Amino acid sequence: MRFGTHSIVATAVLSVALAAYSTGAVAQALAGKVSSAEEGAMEGVLISAKRAGATVTITVVSDKEGRYAFPAAKLEPGRHSIRIRAVGYDLEGPGAVDITAQPAALDLRLKRTSDLAAQLSNGEWMASVPGTDAQKGQLLNCVGCHTLERVVRSQYDADTFTKTILPRMQGYVNQSIPQHPQLRKAERLMEERGDQRVQVYRSTAEYLATINRGPAQKWSYELKTLPRPSGRATRVVYTEYDLPRETISPHDVIVDSEGIAWYSSFGEQNLGRLDPKTGEVTEFPIDVHKPGFPTGLLGLRADRAGNLWLGNMYQATILKFDRKTTKFTTWKLPPERNIDAAQVNMVSPQAMHVDGKVWTQNNGFAGVHRLDVATGKIETWEPFKSAPKGEPHNIYDVIPDSQNNVWFTDFRWRHIGRIDAKTGEVKMFEIPAAAKVVAPRRGMMDAKDRLWFAQYRGDKIAMLDTRTGEFKGWTISPRWSSPYDVVIDRNEEAWTGSMITDQVTRLDTRTGQSVDYLLPRTTNIRRVFVDDSTTPVTFWVGSNHGASIVKLEPLD
Ligand code: HEC
Repeated sequence: MRFGTHSIVATAVLSVALAAYSTGAVAQALAGKVSSAEEGAMEGVLISAKRAGATVTITVVSDKEGRYAFPAAKLEPGRHSIRIRAVGYDLEGPGAVDITAQPAALDLRLKRTSDLAAQLSNGEWMASVPGTDAQKGQLLNCVGCHTLERVVRSQYDADTFTKTILPRMQGYVNQSIPQHPQLRKAERLMEERGDQRVQVYRSTAEYLATINRGPAQKWSYELKTLPRPSGRATRVVYTEYDLPRETISPHDVIVDSEGIAWYSSFGEQNLGRLDPKTGEVTEFPIDVHKPGFPTGLLGLRADRAGNLWLGNMYQATILKFDRKTTKFTTWKLPPERNIDAAQVNMVSPQAMHVDGKVWTQNNGFAGVHRLDVATGKIETWEPFKSAPKGEPHNIYDVIPDSQNNVWFTDFRWRHIGRIDAKTGEVKMFEIPAAAKVVAPRRGMMDAKDRLWFAQYRGDKIAMLDTRTGEFKGWTISPRWSSPYDVVIDRNEEAWTGSMITDQVTRLDTRTGQSVDYLLPRTTNIRRVFVDDSTTPVTFWVGSNHGASIVKLEPLD
């Protein structure tokens, strides 16, 4: 939900506008029908319009009769290019239209694509490739930085994967994208370890060599596609705001009480600010504190006063940004904790008003830290210090409850942990699941102290009632949806985004029914955000591989 105070007037105006839209009374700038020779009228085709020279793209979706309509308020006069998303099809025409004060009519013809592989999402590659669940599950380690298309189009054999490609991938830090790769500091070390390390990659490499094109330059399996959106999932308008450089991966996007969207840049030392009214983007540069170490930010969260807090990852700092003075305050980890592998991803100030303390974590050694803002002192917990050697643990998110006790997710395992704010005692809660690893990832605490989190492995979102210890779970489809994060809105609807299918799921937790919206372009999404001050609510997400911010406005 937005932080700061909400504007009640704006909410009222919006709901009137949307009510008018749903009865069809709203003026339309551009409307028409979508069809193809194969299917006739086509439902679930995404139609995007972008004015020449603009940084904003509007997208709507065709209904059961193939009809689409852009509300007049969304398109400005001028020449617009038209693009579609409908897997298996290309736009035959027309590819552009002039928007004037008069509503324009434009029927669109689609034709079968000649390059289906170029259109598949990572989720569709997951559906297509053969393999056991364990084999396919390894591919979830390959989708953070680039598409699976890059993997399956390659022609490498198992040996080349083992000796060259996989060690090279392992050397990149998580915030790498092909436009801006960054090496791990430990990369040199790994090169020295040589052969011993390489054996770890052998079985993955052998599998990869069965699903890529290989020397024959073709796939040994059929390419499968996921169904297009239908029904309620077509009743939506998307607004996509381009960011100024293709190297910007907006990892976390949150919206403040003035309607400004803020984002953490995953690979660069900037906090970004987008004004959705104008599309204007401002970047606030952040100092490098560990020269030679990778740059970039991950978690972005607000305290009650509206200050923004960020985790500066390998720079190993906690940052606070004052929106009024636009100044940063920086805290460094204590020297004995500021090891080469130190990585501060999440900073959680949501309940600091309780005791003046901010929770954070450290990927370098599965640690939790707590910053006392008044004294600058940083405490450390190592909940898995006495775990059996070789047992993998990774504390991913740290989420405070109303008393500023912290709850954390163990991404490499199947547990939620709790640290008592007063006594420091650590307690573990096991997520009920058949699988050994369910990978709880990101989430949030609601006003009733219910912890909502995504299970990256096993395609589920879940809730832990921290007052009773009871878990509840909901399956997200399709298989391999790989949700990253969850937000619960004011209507008890849970929103999550798949990291691989380009789907945003809105799940009514009271009925279990869900709507799967499809994003206008293929990408990778992480943190999800819901603005509860509008009616219906508005969903925001950063397009990590598309250098843009996407706003999703459901029409019901
Ligand atoms: C941490 C980021 C990251 C991850 C995770 C990652 N890659 Fe990459 N990958 C890159 C970057 C950056 C490039 C482009 C630069 C290069 O080729 O080294 C790339 C390129 C590639 C290429 C093309 C290389 C070529 O020379 O043709 C292949 C194939 C590939 N990756 C396979 C994989 C596989 C398989 C996985 C999962 C096991 C994976 N990648 C995971 C960052 C990553």
